[in-house]
Parts: sequence; structure tokens; C-alpha cells
Amino acid sequence: MSVLKVFICTCRGGITLPKDLDFGEDVKVRVIEDIFFDKAQEEIESFVGKEKIVIAGPSPRIMEGFFSDPNIAFVNIWEQASMVGHGPEKIRDLIHGAVEGLRNTAPVEKKVFEIKNKDALVIGGGVAGLEAARHIANAGFKVYLIEKKPFLGGVVAGLDRLYPEGTPNSHVLYPLINEVVRNKGVDILTNTEVEEVDGSLGDYRVKIKTHGRIPKGLMLKKCEEVCPVTVNDHGIKRKAIYYMPTYPYSHGIDFDSCTRCGECVKVCEDISLEEEEKEIEVGAIVVATGLKEYDASKIIEYGYGRYPNVLTQWEFERRFSNGLIKPKSVSIIHCAGSRDKNHLPYCSRVCCILGLKEAKLVKDTSPDTEVYINYIDMRSYGPFEEFYNTIREIYGVKFIQGRPSEILQDGEELVVRAEDILLGKQMDNRVEYVVLMTGFVPDDELFHKLGLPADGCFPTEYVNSQHSVDANPRGIFIAGAAAFPKGVAESMIDAGDAAQGVIDVLDRYAVEKKTPTARINSSICGEIDCRICLTACPYGAVYLKDEEVTVNEELCMGCGICTATCAAGANQLDGCTNNGMLAQIAATTKEGDVVAFLCKWSSYSAADKAGYELLRYPENVKIIRIPCTGRVDAQMILKAFSSGAKGVLIAGCPPDGCHYFTGNLKARKRVIALKKLIEQFGINPEALAIEWIGKDESKKFVEIVNRLNGGGR
Ligand code: FES
Repeated sequence: MSVLKVFICTCRGGITLPKDLDFGEDVKVRVIEDIFFDKAQEEIESFVGKEKIVIAGPSPRIMEGFFSDPNIAFVNIWEQASMVGHGPEKIRDLIHGAVEGLRNTAPVEKKVFEIKNKDALVIGGGVAGLEAARHIANAGFKVYLIEKKPFLGGVVAGLDRLYPEGTPNSHVLYPLINEVVRNKGVDILTNTEVEEVDGSLGDYRVKIKTHGRIPKGLMLKKCEEVCPVTVNDHGIKRKAIYYMPTYPYSHGIDFDSCTRCGECVKVCEDISLEEEEKEIEVGAIVVATGLKEYDASKIIEYGYGRYPNVLTQWEFERRFSNGLIKPKSVSIIHCAGSRDKNHLPYCSRVCCILGLKEAKLVKDTSPDTEVYINYIDMRSYGPFEEFYNTIREIYGVKFIQGRPSEILQDGEELVVRAEDILLGKQMDNRVEYVVLMTGFVPDDELFHKLGLPADGCFPTEYVNSQHSVDANPRGIFIAGAAAFPKGVAESMIDAGDAAQGVIDVLDRYAVEKKTPTARINSSICGEIDCRICLTACPYGAVYLKDEEVTVNEELCMGCGICTATCAAGANQLDGCTNNGMLAQIAATTKEGDVVAFLCKWSSYSAADKAGYELLRYPENVKIIRIPCTGRVDAQMILKAFSSGAKGVLIAGCPPDGCHYFTGNLKARKRVIALKKLIEQFGINPEALAIEWIGKDESKKFVEIVNRLNGGGR
């Protein structure tokens, strides 16, 4: 890539170009009339991947819809120059800046992930896992479906009914399980867990451990009789070896309770209590580990574990539907531990509907039972509002708005103490049973094994709008309630999406990395060894491997936040290196200019909009497009000043709206610190500004650059 090609679009003569288009011997300039013509695009395409290319014309926001290559630099000479009445001299500066930037940037090689393994792993045999496995296997790919428990069906297998109609779980579960069991492409491994995950997209090696084996299809009543371990399974007593509620439709062993005493083996020698480890190779993974209840005993004031009639939702439903309890009165406590900073600060969304379901279950079976629901707000989203109205108006369930402060035992009764907000009075509600509708928690341990950032929170990308198509495919998909609490129907739809993601990956030979990557020069890094960039990455992509700072290429989103923290220059972002940026700044800036570093996700679009709205701003405002304000480091700012800028603006997304979560906040801290420093060099700190400018805030952009243009050194 020794030659640099510059294509300049005149937008059908709408842009007046400078006379001097000589950017050096190694630069070949070609002026085209309209870049939207197929012929022009074909011509440019013929050089993509072979040469470094500068395309000057309409905004890169538009051009990226036609060309995508890390070795292309876009120059906006339409919206940000010609449309706002700026002349050929500025256009030359902008193109010159891009040329110098590219000239001083090492060519970027496209990273591709080869899809070496065409099998998939689905972790979790609940409804989401089953549905995902079914779709993937039907598309012709082999699936390893592993389940920690000895049977399939997950949480749903332990429930009596599903909301809102109260449909028995068998209506959904049995046909789904049987379809998966019949599918020869699915290898079902129960009592099996993930031990370790290594590799990357298309080439994962997963160590799995199976806790023991029991022959399928055998009725092992004798083994059950000799098993000395009795387990309280959500309120129902059983042995550690017991008859499974679903597939494998025979006896199985609960290895969470089994002591491996060997009594069952004495009766049936085909049982193996030996752990088996094996490694499987897969190209993509679905995480479908389902709902995990919050530990109710942590809510000390509700007495779970101290008072026998205070039960969790699953315990109550199982005991009630099995006829083990016949309550005269029940109080269902919504938001037990949820939306509470001492327990779960978030709302688990589905618990309100689950609580209504429990109320219906009781009233359907035992209409005379008094049922109360304590709630803070009723979150009966979407179609469930009608369900809520039915329970309240037709079923005669009594609703008390207010979070109970405590639950006490008084003789045979439980006292639920709460303030009824609507009546404005303290209530002591006496009931026989209390049901705690606790929230749900993420499967932290598994997420860590898979390298998904999690620390008591559900994976951010699933609950945050910043998850967008520019994220790199990792081949790890989260389905159903593992991503965030969901009901059965939503989990199954979600599982279909996850399965489609897996199929898309496995169907290909290779997947291209979408974003630039930060790269570490280990010898420079090792000398300084500050390790600051480890904490700077919002995605956990920068990590220590054998004591060396390393970047996980799949996780790296190319924001450049870590690059900006590296004072040693060891960390460089592909296509946006220090050398390239400094060269671009120097070549673009003239004495008395205002240099504006604008985030491509927000303020850059505001400047484009100013063009469409023909809002005038001074010609000496030179815009440099950046991936995030977090990429702008002290060197870049100082370079702009030393190149003659009288003002420097760094403008990006609003405080909570950075595409990379915190880049804008880090940039602000840096700029505040730098203002003090530049003052010592005799530069007016007011000449340096950091601002939030949303994509539509064209007027704000113009006001700010006008202000900076009026300021001085
Ligand atoms: Fe806009 Fe970070 S992405 S400031």
C-alpha cells in the first residue's frame, strides 16, 4: 500500500474545489462528478483493500453506507464546508489533513474470525435452551445441549401453571422436550456443567463435566428406597435419587444433594457416580440458564427460614398444587427485596405477573381462601393489564399498596406489617401463609467463565440501548431469562433469535471483525507497566494475560478510550493512531483556527445538520471526526494549539448517552485537568471547551464554535 488514492466528489459541480490538488508524489487524485453513480463507486471499489484511500465528498455518515474499509479516510467537504459557504482553501486543508493522517497511519489488516467448528453448545435445558437447540438442530447443525439438573425443563418443569391463563406447564413443555429428544442432531447431557471455556468466535473449546450416569429408561424404585439422603425440594420431600418430572422420564440423581455414598450402586450396578470430564469443540454458544431466584433469607425482616409458613413463590406453588397445604389465608408480597438498594436495586419485571398467577391459582382451587397482595406498583405490562384487572375485580383478591416493613409470627398466624398508602394507615394483616415474590439474579459464575462482563448485574448489552449492530459477533448469545427475567413466551421468542444468530455464524466460513482494535506494543508497555488502560476499557476487553496487557479482539469496540489513557504510546487504535491523528491535526490546522473534535455518534451529525439548515459558522472552524470524545488525549489537544488553533472544542454525546458508556465522562475529566496545564503555558483555559452536543443540536454547535472563535489565546 504505497500509493494513496484521493477521490474528490464535486457533488455535480456543487463544490468548488481548490486549484492546487497536489498532495505529494505518492498521492493520486481523481475528481469525480457524482459519487452516487454506480460507475464511480465501482472505480473506488476496485482499489478498496489494495490502497489507502481518501474519499472527499458528502458526510462519512452517508459514505459508510457505500464503503467500509479500515484504510479509507472520509473527508466531509459537502455538509461541513460547501453547504455552509466555506471555500476551496478550507477544502484543501481538510483533504490535506486526511492525506497526512492516512500517510502516517500503518495500514490496517482486516481481522476475520474463521468458523472452524460447525457445532453449537446450548447451556441450559429450560424452555429457552430447548427452543434454541430445536432451531439450531433443525437448521442442520449438531447441538450439545447441556443441563446442570438431572432433567430437562428448567424452572418451568417445577411450576404447576403458566401465566396468565393458568395453562399447565405440560402444554408447552412436553411437546417441546419430545421434539428435541427425537432430533438426532441434539446430544443431550443432563447433570452436566461448563468447567472452562477457551478460544474465540468459531473456535471454542469447552470443558464440560458430567457428574455421574444413570441408565436411561429404567425405573429404579429400589435405588430410591435405599438412598439415605432426603431432600426438601421447594417444599416437597424426596430422595437424592428420584423419578424425574420430565425427560429422561426415569430415575435420576440430584448431584447437588447426593453424597456419593454408593448405596444405590449396590442395588443397580449400571449407575456410575464417577465424574467425567470431556472437551467439546464448538463454533457458537447459547447461554440459556434461565431464572435464578434471589436468596429470600437475606431479607431478614421477612423471616424466611425462621417462620415455616413464609415461603418463596416456587415453594408455595409446588406445595399448594400438590395438595400439601390448604391455606385459609395467604399474603403475597411483591417486590420482596426488589427495587431495594440493600438487595436488588432493579425490577425483575415478571414477578408482578407471577404473583397474580399465584393468587389466581389459589382462588381457582380454593375460592374461599382470603388472598392479599402487597405491592409497591403493579407492573402488569402489555397484555397483562387485563389479567391484573380480572384478578382484582372478578377474583376478589385484596390489594394493599405498600411495602411490608416486617413479618412476625404470632402463635399460628403470621402478621404482615405494612402501611397501606392508599388508606394512609398502618395495617397488621394476619394470615396463615406468606409468599415472597423475590426478584431474580444473573448467573455470574457462568458469565465470568464465558468472559462476559458481569458483577451482580445482567449483561449490560441486553438491558441497554447501546447494544447495537456495530458490536462484534462473539458467537455467544444469551437467550431467555438468562439475559434478563422473562416469561415463557418471551423466552421462547428470544431463544429463536439467539438460535438464528448461531445459525448465521455457523453458516459462514469466516466472520469479519466490525470495529477497529486497540493494539498494545508489549515492549513499550512492559517498560512503563502502569496498567491504567486495564480499568479504562468499558467492555473489559483489555486484560492481563501472563502478566502482559492484552486486548481481546472480539470484545474491543474500537472506541479508543484505552488508547487515550496510554501516556507511553504503547496502546494504539487501528486507523486512529497517535501518529496519524497528530499528523492530521497539524496538516488541517492554520493559525487562528478553531479545531473541533466531534464524536461521530452525536456532535458530528449536529454539524452535518447545521449544513443542511444552512446555518453559517466561521470558515476557520475545522472539524475532525473521532470515534468518541474518550479518544481525544492531551497530545491531540496540545497539537491543535501548537499548530495555531485559537480554540479547541471536544464535543460528544450527552452525559448518560456515550456510545461506549463512559468515554465522554473520562474526556471531561481529562479536559478539566488540561485546562489548568495550558494556563501555565499562557493559553487561555476558556479556549479549550468540552461540550455535550446531541445529534440534532445544530444550533448549539454553531453557538459554541462562534463563542470559541471569539475567544483567544
Ligand atoms: Fe459520543 Fe463517547 S460515543 S462521546
